[in-house]
Amino acid sequence: MASSHGSAHGLADSTGLTGPHDGRAWEGIIRRYAAFLPVSEKTPIISLHEGNTPLLPAPRLSERVGADVFLKVEGANPTGSFKDRGMTVAISKAAEAGARAVVCASTGNTSASAAAYAARAGMSCAVVIPEGHIALGKLAQALVHGARVVQVRANFDVALDIVRELPSRAPIVVVNSINPDRIEGQKTGAYEVIDALGDAPDVHCIPVGNAGNIMAYWRGYRDYYAKNLSTRLPAMMGFQALGAAPIVLGHPVEFPETIATAIRIGNPASWEGAVEAARDSGGQIRAVSDEEILEAYRFLAVEESVFCEAASAASVAGLMKFGVPKGSRVVCVLTGHGLKDPDLAISQARVPVTVDATLDAVLATLELGE
Ligand code: F0G
Repeated sequence: MASSHGSAHGLADSTGLTGPHDGRAWEGIIRRYAAFLPVSEKTPIISLHEGNTPLLPAPRLSERVGADVFLKVEGANPTGSFKDRGMTVAISKAAEAGARAVVCASTGNTSASAAAYAARAGMSCAVVIPEGHIALGKLAQALVHGARVVQVRANFDVALDIVRELPSRAPIVVVNSINPDRIEGQKTGAYEVIDALGDAPDVHCIPVGNAGNIMAYWRGYRDYYAKNLSTRLPAMMGFQALGAAPIVLGHPVEFPETIATAIRIGNPASWEGAVEAARDSGGQIRAVSDEEILEAYRFLAVEESVFCEAASAASVAGLMKFGVPKGSRVVCVLTGHGLKDPDLAISQARVPVTVDATLDAVLATLELGE
């Protein structure tokens, strides 16, 4: 299995590494998985060495739900979210086509990633975001990487409608997940899961916003299965926030609301793809409340030492709420880093105390006993 996969890549590997981990994992997902991606020798590879993220066993979560749970820690990507997998492909293909400028609508992470990869490619980047609903860290990223940031007085769905129309009016490439290269890159998350576990899990839990990622993972799992690199396909369990759950409700939500601003989306672009992934895999799309999301968020931080963002915790909230068959092997994707949203983090934690700078005062505050 390993060697047939190795030759499928067709990439000379001077490191002598063999098996599914050929290509150099630390050099980014395009070099590692070129054979599965829409790239050729002519494609300039614009990479920040994304991917190769931890698949971390979660012993306390496993105990709690009676299953064997792993966390795919996508916050470990260069800009702190899974978006980098799709962005390296989208920006590389845009560079191949001679693009000079890219644009996206975003709830924050796509804009951070687009800004960073566009800067690396020497392209200009514009991002259109819903005013007042972007986590502080994400806004900082887009700004620091030099993107032109436009805030609109509307939600993400309206921003995306505007962005879709821009290429008909100006020479600019859209790098939202309606760009098929984004989905192609993001499916590499599934390859990494199988490469790490040796096979696909029984259940795959994932947050759903604009719904590109659930579609991408499903495609990735099917790619490996079709090439006999795995022996099974997981049930795809997608989780929306209760106040922004159009797929669960079966109709768009005009005014989506959730503390998980990354998935505050009322009319997902890849709606059909998400429904198909759930249906064809024997999975489901379901909703979790903000309280359930926050409970999972705190549990992950305190019990598993993983600081993810609220939207990411929806995957674990769904697992905790709905459960899985006993002993299942489960992968939960934690899509983005907790540092993206420091305001939320602090609101969920004990406030620090301030005391005089003396040993006694510090000791008294710590309540450690004699
Ligand atoms: N988790 C995080 C942290 C996200 O940023 C997003 C989407 C999702 C989950 C949902 O993924 O859209 O593929 O279903 N963020 C987009 C953005 C919308 O603009 O950054 P999806």
